[in-house]
Amino acid sequence: MTNPSLLILAGDGIGPEVMDQVKRIITWYGDKRDLAFDVSEDLVGGAAYDKHGVPLHDDTMAKAQAVDAVLLGAVGGPAYDDLDFSVKPERGLLRLRKEMDLFANLRPAQCFDALADFSSLKKELVAGLDIMIVRELTSGVYFGEPRGIHIEDNMRVGINTQRYTEAEIERGARAAFEMAMKRNKKLCSMEKANVMESGILWRDVVTEVHADYPEVELSHMYADNGAMQLVRAPKQFDVIYTDNLFGDILSDCAAMLTGSLGMLPSASLGAPMANGRPKAMYEPVHGSAPDITGQSKANPIACILSFAMALRYSFDQGDEAARLEAAIEKVLADGARTGDLMGPEGGKPLSTTEMGDAILAALDASL
Ligand code: IPM
Ligand code: MG
Repeated sequence: MTNPSLLILAGDGIGPEVMDQVKRIITWYGDKRDLAFDVSEDLVGGAAYDKHGVPLHDDTMAKAQAVDAVLLGAVGGPAYDDLDFSVKPERGLLRLRKEMDLFANLRPAQCFDALADFSSLKKELVAGLDIMIVRELTSGVYFGEPRGIHIEDNMRVGINTQRYTEAEIERGARAAFEMAMKRNKKLCSMEKANVMESGILWRDVVTEVHADYPEVELSHMYADNGAMQLVRAPKQFDVIYTDNLFGDILSDCAAMLTGSLGMLPSASLGAPMANGRPKAMYEPVHGSAPDITGQSKANPIACILSFAMALRYSFDQGDEAARLEAAIEKVLADGARTGDLMGPEGGKPLSTTEMGDAILAALDASL
């Protein structure tokens, strides 16, 4: 049997640094758990632009379509701020999402006990927090036409279009209901049906799909109220289903509840491929963090937890994913901290590599 294939696109900024730690974890699974992967690497974002003049080369796109899963680090950085919009690093990421048709973006926000003090919210509000945001990722205002900047009456006008078909809303809703069935069977759908027709359609379609999942308790919330509820009483939520733009914003908000953006992974899933695995890309929720790039300060945990999601959702290795998550929980409980997780009491933070060392040691200890 051939090994499952992974394409690593480490990207820009801290992307390569945190991905180096993921590569060590991948090697560990091959050596110690008989779970070997065929790993290839390529460029995305600014790194691809520097070499090819585009943020994603067509050959890289073709490779991404052919592998079992893509692991992405981060894209973007100040060096690329002045590039034309069409070749900005983010366009590479958006092309991958769109052409792989990764419509269901799973963004878990879990608060590790050891980190409950780091949240900007009171500890009792976030201790034990475990939310899953399902963000629609291939449509909505990110991709809707018409779009652009043009001149009208001697004035510049900027246009983007929020557009959703019922099929797009429905397939994401099914992913969200399925997720709720595996968890606490509660789904809250968020839109702005009070001001947007696309929100009215969203609410209607989600309600229709609910008929197939009668065991799930469904609620609807305006997205602005959702943002408020997320910081007021986040533990009321189990699964949240929302659109591309609201999901972008609400997931940053949920991420911060957990103490650090450096902790949160994500999975972007599409339709099943011929081998039954979903099309998939895994990436940390954080960005390229140019302020700390190259200093070995970055927290690799979000990227490593993204690989854990790959084990679970692409490779049916839920037990091994849980092993990796438990190893991370253990090192945090033992006090391992990168700079983003340092409290006011101070201490010497671990480097990116030292955090990788600690997690590998905890994996060894789990055998
Ligand atoms: C995210 C990011 C991206 C998005 C950017 C980098 C294009 O913020 O994944 O949340 O807006 O989707
Ligand atoms: Mg975002």
